[in-house]
Amino acid sequence: KETVVSGIRSTGYLHLGNYFGAIHNYVKMQEDYNCYFFVADYHSLTTHPDPKDLKANVFRVAAENIASGLNPDKVALYAQSDIPEIPELYLMLNMLAYKGELEKVPTFKDKVRLSPDNVNAGLLTYPVLMTADILIHNASKVPVGKDQEQHLEMARNFAQRFNSRYGEVFTEPHVFRFDENTVKIMSLDGNGKMSKSENINATIFLSDEDEVIRKKIMKAKTDSGPTEPNMEMPDYIKNLFQLMQLVSEQDVHQTFLDNYNNCNVRYGDFKKQLAEDMSNFVKPIREHAAELQKDEDALRKILKEGAEKARESASKTIAAARKAIGINYY
Ligand code: TYM
Repeated sequence: KETVVSGIRSTGYLHLGNYFGAIHNYVKMQEDYNCYFFVADYHSLTTHPDPKDLKANVFRVAAENIASGLNPDKVALYAQSDIPEIPELYLMLNMLAYKGELEKVPTFKDKVRLSPDNVNAGLLTYPVLMTADILIHNASKVPVGKDQEQHLEMARNFAQRFNSRYGEVFTEPHVFRFDENTVKIMSLDGNGKMSKSENINATIFLSDEDEVIRKKIMKAKTDSGPTEPNMEMPDYIKNLFQLMQLVSEQDVHQTFLDNYNNCNVRYGDFKKQLAEDMSNFVKPIREHAAELQKDEDALRKILKEGAEKARESASKTIAAARKAIGINYY
């Protein structure tokens, strides 16, 4: 079986972008691959979360993954910080990562622009830690959304660099996806991707109540409608149709699409239908996640067992990396 790794930061509530861009693929892969899925709690420290919130965030991300269909008996589900081999590999890889290339990473440049007062070394070396997360299990496939593609390219570079300096230890990881349509779920206001922190009124969270979902969708950006048949959709409309394709019955989506192409789409009805189907989609996940979060002992047990599985694999890789570097003195 091929090995798969992916992670989600514990920075807030998970949303439809995380679901369709990542978790949905995890669930589809869990039967056929050797899977390691984790909560990237170390990565979330770059923005200095309040220590009081960290645990709840980690447990919620775990619960929302399980509520979305991830089966902890089939995969290793763990917290990044439970695997000490990850920071050890991160340290080794940092010796092969250059300041110039790290400064050029678009996500780093965004952070510098948006929060110039907190340009810490953890932010700069964010892709190196991510590489360690992946290489520690020698994963070949990494299911992630579009925003992580650049990081994966760096992971391949670092793996290659290590291998050419010290010998073949690491597999080069590649982005994996089933469906190009879900790699970038757009925000409901049509401005960029759905995200945990930007414009939460245009983001649908897996924990949103029906009424909240309805309000957000009814407020989503539309216009006065197409003016000629088969007109190209503006991005914000295309996005709503895409969401409908993901959560509604196929014939419902097709009917509205035909209406659009015939210039007789009524956005009020369209949004009402989308809101209803979206609520029905989110509700079981929300309810199951809430249920799971009530039983902390059970979640703790799942994360501990996941960490044991992950450490078994991680300890082998780190032993190979140490040996390749020459750290085998005794
Ligand atoms: P994070 O926590 O920002 O997001 C988790 C996953 O959700 C995907 N995603 C989206 N997909 C489609 N449309 C969107 N609007 C959208 N928003 C988020 C992300 O692409 C990601 O797959 N650096 C990573 C976490 C990480 C990681 C790793 C991932 C740390 N180490 C190792 C893979 C392998 C991150 O911040 O994801």
